[in-house]
Amino acid sequence: MSFESSPSLQSMSTTCGFLFFSFTALFSLFSFLIFVSRMKPWCNCDICKSYLTMSWANKFANLCDWYTHLLRKSPTGTIHVHVLGNTITSNPENVEYILKINFENYPKGKPFSTLLGDLLGRGIFNVDGHSWKFQRKMASLELGSVSIRSFAMQLVTKEIHTRLMPLLTARAESNTPFDLQDILRRFSFDNICQFSFGLDPGCLLPSLPVSDLAESFDLASKLSAERAMTASPFIWKAKRFFNVGSEKKLKKAIKVVNDVARGMIKQRREMGFTARNDLLSRFMGSVNDDDEYLRDIVVSFLLAGRDTVAAALTGFFYLLSGTPEVEALIRAELDRVVGPVQDFATFEQVREMHYLNAAIHESMRLFPSIQFDSKFATDDDVLPDGTFVRKGSRVTYHPYAMGRMERIWGPDCLEFKPERWVQNGVFVPACPFKYPVFQAGVRVCLGKDLALMEMKCVVATLVKRFDVRLVRPDQELRFVPGLTATLRGGLPVRVYERKC
Ligand code: HEM
Repeated sequence: MSFESSPSLQSMSTTCGFLFFSFTALFSLFSFLIFVSRMKPWCNCDICKSYLTMSWANKFANLCDWYTHLLRKSPTGTIHVHVLGNTITSNPENVEYILKINFENYPKGKPFSTLLGDLLGRGIFNVDGHSWKFQRKMASLELGSVSIRSFAMQLVTKEIHTRLMPLLTARAESNTPFDLQDILRRFSFDNICQFSFGLDPGCLLPSLPVSDLAESFDLASKLSAERAMTASPFIWKAKRFFNVGSEKKLKKAIKVVNDVARGMIKQRREMGFTARNDLLSRFMGSVNDDDEYLRDIVVSFLLAGRDTVAAALTGFFYLLSGTPEVEALIRAELDRVVGPVQDFATFEQVREMHYLNAAIHESMRLFPSIQFDSKFATDDDVLPDGTFVRKGSRVTYHPYAMGRMERIWGPDCLEFKPERWVQNGVFVPACPFKYPVFQAGVRVCLGKDLALMEMKCVVATLVKRFDVRLVRPDQELRFVPGLTATLRGGLPVRVYERKC
């Protein structure tokens, strides 16, 4: 007897389904009301009203620009968005306090790890406490080793010489405009996949193929970030429970990423990993009995290195195309260090280029790849500027706003001036709590040196050979909401080969 042929069983299952659905709906509604009551949705202050009605959008192109405006006006450099339960700060003393002095009180916290949990699992980006300490130690050891650094640089050099340069040369010859952001995202995805998994997705091959992995990874990151924008977590959780809408798409995208990761792990298990240099093979030496954990660890690296490098380079070329004097000074340094005959700078030469280093730091001051970063307070606390922080509430530091603060960078803070980083011809780093572009303190970015080296190699090679010019020099930058700064509509440019 099948279910279809039994009316009593059919009605019983309908009743159970109805009861279950009603219970879930009531439970979600109840939880939603508790959540909403905690969020203080009725706040009538100017900031909250403007946030809720989105009236800020009448004056500002991006939410981060509105926050910058508010933070500049605030005497302490800190503001509250009550309806979000979020304290946002641009005060370097507060940043040092959160990221270093009272680090234990400001973990990533459950609200964040739940949002990204399905994609990142227990990966370093998404955990606190013991699991984070273990991965941090293991990853710092690996990323600090000379062999992995030279492996990373070999990959970058090969990708620049065999894919990026031929592609740009072809674009220059045909005088075709193209989206530089897209090219840089393809470039960085090829690199980080080869570095993390030893897998080449070939995104920057001449036909610019659609990569299932890249598309699924992007979609998974985007949809995970969008969970934070639903009015209550219960909405996306219910959608996930019933496997509908965006949650269904997210599940499908994560499956593609998982299948690739699991396939690579399986292949390493079968073919051996000791002689290989990619991160997965190296981590397999320390984590040898938990393939899910290995998957989580390497997927975090994909996220860390994919969009961050591309976003920083996109911001750099946007600024450079409007400042020929900076471009001329980078070229003068290239001529001095590399010489006119040699096409590509070596790593040693790139290391000697202080002005180039300054220009890259300066562009990330104005266009940080990660515009803001939040923590969740474990206990009630008071920040150095006197701001009270309630247990469980969100505290956000805002590198985008901090880079545009007169009180931190002076009256010329909105100008792209690499000179502010150079003294007597030598690059002088800024205090990391004034410039938390790579975060700072206990959880500072582990890939900072690699990322900077990668960016310097790209810039040195491109600037030596091409003039990169915006198709619309007056293009207003609008960012897509998400984990990293991505330009809506990309960055359309033309490249011109230099005659020298
Ligand atoms: C311009 C490029 C990059 C920027 C601006 C950047 C920035 C950051 C920031 C702001 C964080 C803190 C994120 C958070 O805790 O929410 C972070 C963490 C991290 N980054 Fe980067 N990153 C870059 C490139 C890379 C690359 C290429 C790698 C790997 C090869 C990497 C590996 C990591 C790791 C593993 C963490 C987690 C550290 C921890 O939680 O202890 N990053 N990065």
